[in-house]
Amino acid sequence: MEFFLDTANIDEIKRINRLGLVDGITTNPSIIAKGNRDFEEVIKEICSIVDGPVSAEVISLTADEMVEEAREIAKWASNVVVKIPMTEAGLEAVNTISKEGIKTNVTLVFSVAQGLMAAKAGATYISPFVGRVDDIGEDGIALIQRLKQTLQNYQYDAKIITASVRTIGHLESAALAGADIATIPGSLLPKLWKHPLTDNGIEQFLADWEKVPKKAETLS
Ligand code: G3P
Repeated sequence: MEFFLDTANIDEIKRINRLGLVDGITTNPSIIAKGNRDFEEVIKEICSIVDGPVSAEVISLTADEMVEEAREIAKWASNVVVKIPMTEAGLEAVNTISKEGIKTNVTLVFSVAQGLMAAKAGATYISPFVGRVDDIGEDGIALIQRLKQTLQNYQYDAKIITASVRTIGHLESAALAGADIATIPGSLLPKLWKHPLTDNGIEQFLADWEKVPKKAETLS
């Protein structure tokens, strides 16, 4: 499973990149707003740190404007991916720019039908929002399972990015469902490798180690 970070925080990206865990980055306008920096500048900096795909979202709502924006964003770096919202205009834009070789990530996907339309339009990536599906009383992980099966049935190349990941359970279930990628917010990261039994185990081992006779003590 590929592992993207859902953040534009440079320090966080560098820190997690040192662990070898960063296959790509996703951002959205809310994430960019948190960083309080120029959009183009921050995306270019992220693209220079991370080798994998870096999603940058358009804010236009008409197909023509999205296409224009996407062509501009695509010039920023060779690994940039243009994120397009799942609307009729978005599908038209994806259909146009995917034929120009621009990679796309269709976002705000909440149903199998939407995912299927995105794949047909030529999306490179499709982002179903599992947490927000759960928020409305439906099953976000079931959406991942059903969309994965649907894309497999027709051999679409589009990859599923599990987005709006809020819990370890989301990540583990998305992996079991065969999602290609999960994009993880910074707040969830430490929980992925921390476990209380690991901490207890280290504490116990260190306490026992104190009881092992040291060389000087053995000789005396
Ligand atoms: O990956 C999408 C994410 O940024 C939205 O997450 O928790 O606001 O639904 P959330």
